Amino acid sequence: MSDPESAILSALSAEEGSTIADTYAFAASHNFDHNQIVGVSKSLEGDAYVTLKELSTQFFVLQKEANDISTNGSQEVRVLNALVKAGDAGLSIPALQQEVGKDISKIGMGNCLKNKWAKKDKASGNLIAVVSEAKDDVREQLAALQAANGDPKALDDKAVQALKRRKLISLVTRKSYTVSRGPDYKPKRVKKAADLTKEMLDSGSYKTTTFKEYNFQTLGESVGGGYLHPLLKVRAEFRKILMQMGFEEMPTSKWVESSFWNFDSLFQPQSHPARDAHDTFFIKEPAATVSVPEDYYERVKTMHESGGSGSIGYRYDFKREEAFKNLLRTHTTAISSQMLYKLANQEGGFQPARYFSIDRVFRNETMDATHLCEFHQVEGLVADYDLSLGDLIGTIETFFKKIGITKLRFKPAFNPYTEPSMEIFGYHPDLKKWTEIGNSGMFRPEMLAPMGLPENVRVIAWGLSLERPTMIKYRIDNIRNLFGHKVDLAMTRNAPICRFEGGEEEEKQQQ
Ligand code: PHE
Repeated sequence: MSDPESAILSALSAEEGSTIADTYAFAASHNFDHNQIVGVSKSLEGDAYVTLKELSTQFFVLQKEANDISTNGSQEVRVLNALVKAGDAGLSIPALQQEVGKDISKIGMGNCLKNKWAKKDKASGNLIAVVSEAKDDVREQLAALQAANGDPKALDDKAVQALKRRKLISLVTRKSYTVSRGPDYKPKRVKKAADLTKEMLDSGSYKTTTFKEYNFQTLGESVGGGYLHPLLKVRAEFRKILMQMGFEEMPTSKWVESSFWNFDSLFQPQSHPARDAHDTFFIKEPAATVSVPEDYYERVKTMHESGGSGSIGYRYDFKREEAFKNLLRTHTTAISSQMLYKLANQEGGFQPARYFSIDRVFRNETMDATHLCEFHQVEGLVADYDLSLGDLIGTIETFFKKIGITKLRFKPAFNPYTEPSMEIFGYHPDLKKWTEIGNSGMFRPEMLAPMGLPENVRVIAWGLSLERPTMIKYRIDNIRNLFGHKVDLAMTRNAPICRFEGGEEEEKQQQ
């Protein structure tokens, strides 16, 4: 017979009621691997060619020691033979061990005494044979079992128990099947079509083709790639919220900035400690920016050196070389500054605007469980006529409410570019504590006036990190598990989608 499939089908072809009584025996007699026969039978069962009935056959197999007994006799008989050979004086235990080996002597001696085949001589302590020969029951039982292919019925229960106790045999359960004709039995298998093809439609053969049934039980393939990192999930949510609030995204797709835009345009003095290499990553190549808007540069320089718009400035020599130094931006406020400059100088003049950005910034900080030297900053600003601190608080409250933080406190703070400045503290309903969540303020006239913004235009702005709300949302307590080379890819794959509840319900719950 060529292959298992036709072997099985033709074994059933003789007459209606033909069966294969046991696949195990069938495989053995046809020289097939049993697993293969089972596999093919199951596949045939799937197409109703055959029906299967599970059989479970129990049989004994001989253990290693039993095989030794089959060839050399049981331990007790071997001990008896040694004692008979030693004659009337018998053997001391060490001498017996020497003769038959330690293991055999131990078991064999015990059984000899129990069977009263030998006795212990009180005076010498030697073992002496009492009978000259004995029937080797154990060996015979094992032979009988082997001859019956391990069939438990070959021996009486007592013998079986004794052999099991001596760990000479162990019971094995084998699963096999009885195979009989199924409702759709055919002597030759016709493969069912899995797909409807254009050719079948063209020729009309689909009308007579047998198709595979749908398997509604099968699991879908898991998707292999394309998971958003939790930071990106939270970013997507924040973007949505900010866009709903009428904010427009700023183009932040560059990491290298000049000191001019990152610091000077923000009225941050050139001697400010944050401008030190300890806090800022400066770029070696190219070390300096190519150009800045010259007329604006002049106005910024004047503001730093001698002031304007009611300010006396910082009163130091503003250095072009310092302003031109390239760096990895330390905040996205560098972009806010450029956007405001554009807004002031666009065709048709200033128009009110709301801008936001969420992008990466870099600070040369000592790294620990909550700080890396890069993070993502969420920044928003509103530029309009006559805005007040109330507008800033209101805007911030609206934003945070949308990300589930409804209780806010503001603490006076200092930023070189905002006045007044406020740190934002939020009561986190999940963590049940107040934490610092952001920074905010109204941009100073010293920053806005050189840009050419109308005098009564006020700009309110705030910033926070994306990492902090993400870590809270995803219950990650070490930033290294969120960002960097230690991140577990499975974490990204399994992270649930991020949703921030609308604040209103939560507010009601708290009242
Ligand atoms: N740039 C500030 C920071 O790095 C955030 C901020 C933005 C503060 C706008 C005030 C106004 O923390």
